Amino acid sequence: MRSRILVRGGSAVAALTLCTSALVLVGNQASAAAGCSVDYQTNQWDTGFTANVTVNNLGDAISNGWTLEWDFSGNQQITNHWNSTITQSGRHVTAKNPDWAKGLATGGSHSLGFQASYSGTNDKPTSFKLNGTACTGGPVQTTTSTSTSTTTTSTSTTTTTTTQDPGNPDGHVANPYVGAAGYLNPDYVAQVDALATSTGGTLGTAMRKVAQNSTAVWMDRIGAITAGRGLRGHLDEALRQQAAAGRPVVFQVVVYDLPNRDCAALASNGELQVSQNGLARYKAEYVDPIAAILGDPKYRDLRIVAIIEPDSLPNLITNAAKPKCAEAKSSGAYVQGVQYALNKLSAIPNVYNYLDIAHSGWLGWDSNLVPAVQLYTDVVRGTTKGFTSVDGFVSNTANYTPVDEPNLPDPTQTVGGQPLKSAKFYQWNPYFDEADFGAELHRRFVAAGFPSSIGMLIDTSRNGWGGANRPTGATGSTVDEYVNSGRIDRRLHRGNWCNQTGAGIGARPQAAPRPNFDAYVWIKPPGESDGIATKTDGPNEEGKQHDPMCDPAFRGDEQANGGNLTGAMPGAPHAGVWFPAQFKSLVENAYPAL
Ligand code: BGC
Repeated sequence: MRSRILVRGGSAVAALTLCTSALVLVGNQASAAAGCSVDYQTNQWDTGFTANVTVNNLGDAISNGWTLEWDFSGNQQITNHWNSTITQSGRHVTAKNPDWAKGLATGGSHSLGFQASYSGTNDKPTSFKLNGTACTGGPVQTTTSTSTSTTTTSTSTTTTTTTQDPGNPDGHVANPYVGAAGYLNPDYVAQVDALATSTGGTLGTAMRKVAQNSTAVWMDRIGAITAGRGLRGHLDEALRQQAAAGRPVVFQVVVYDLPNRDCAALASNGELQVSQNGLARYKAEYVDPIAAILGDPKYRDLRIVAIIEPDSLPNLITNAAKPKCAEAKSSGAYVQGVQYALNKLSAIPNVYNYLDIAHSGWLGWDSNLVPAVQLYTDVVRGTTKGFTSVDGFVSNTANYTPVDEPNLPDPTQTVGGQPLKSAKFYQWNPYFDEADFGAELHRRFVAAGFPSSIGMLIDTSRNGWGGANRPTGATGSTVDEYVNSGRIDRRLHRGNWCNQTGAGIGARPQAAPRPNFDAYVWIKPPGESDGIATKTDGPNEEGKQHDPMCDPAFRGDEQANGGNLTGAMPGAPHAGVWFPAQFKSLVENAYPAL
């Protein structure tokens, strides 16, 4: 459950009991404007919650440290916190600035976060104080004295005092997204802004909003490490953004260059081949240089999220009959490549590894899910750091499966005597959406031995399914009628994956959106193609080629998409290339609307 309130104090200031010190004012008095507002957001479950607290300074600039105080209304007990030093005494909480954020400019803000347990109700605090001044939402004139003061000391007991997770002396936090800003890739922003400008009007304004959201940077070939801005250039820019934001920046990088890449399709085939020494090259020419850059101490205050090899291990589960996948499997190239990447990257304390785990429409059946959990468990257990080499899993990377199917919440619900999951569209797959799929994966991974601290991510960049065709309810007397009228996933088949017509931008990137989920993220930058629509003579210099699933006129095959049309947009360029028509359509069909 997610809730959000904006506290603009005033009403219950009297409820605050300041217990650290009292200042008695005598003598030389000076005027200063003080003022603040606080935005307090929580993500809550039965017995606990995380909170993001943003304090906005509306008064004079603060240069030498600050303290934010509030009282809980119940038995909330903070267990973990970040981006401030928190002490709790009974209901009273004092959050002090971290060393790296002593200043708060006029109009500036700082976000801090914590995790807490509670029982009963979890009402929000009703008032806050910044450096002793109630946060009433506007500047107030206060009088202070610098000459004579007497101080009384309270008998408060304090709890934790560090700004890191307890037990993580290297600074590796439980959830890298909490309390952090997302990296804005200037190259992507420029592309979006240019299209927004040439489009103009309401649509142009909506387009521009996309650029305010963090997208991942794909290392989709060896050359990408140095081409253009290059990985170092992005990290330097992330450092700059971090300094400007005054809080940690999450930089998301996609590790995507295994030999025989995209082995069951053609659109995103890569440069390395198993048969041509690809695994050794992957290690030496790709993973090693990336790890060397990410491990540069200069970048150690960034939070670097590595998305590990989309679609690779899932292809070993379901597509081992295809020759390139069979080779990737029998040679051990995928498994060893992923383990090598995890070993190198997990040695860097500020890197957070998330393994790609396909999506519910791919692995949802137990016949796929059981062996998948087994394979992932074996792969991760076989790394140097074992289960701690990963921080979690990411689903729906570059796919279109919704987070929720709001009109079809229960796959076992019956219509005409049949369960909804028996409908043609779901083919007895019991997971209709990524929220249910991710929650179940978390449960199974923990049962298999992973620590319960692992977190799930969902790529929500293109799974919004808004616009005029979004159903608001379901009706019908057969399961097929009911499902087809109610599903927001408007694809012709869940196996369709290339440049889907009618898809929209989904949930905005967001930290800790539900229990066991670390974030909603945008891994696929909206508007970058999934694959070229028309036939090409052969692979381009990066290995990309035409896959019939990207041809709007192609009727797929039984295994790929039940023999339906592909639903792909016409006119698409190669995978990864900017595709303005798709971007426009994604913006028009965004949900929530932009
Ligand atoms: C492509 C990559 C590209 C990525 C992000 C993938 O489908 O193969 O080259 O970087 O999408 O757009």
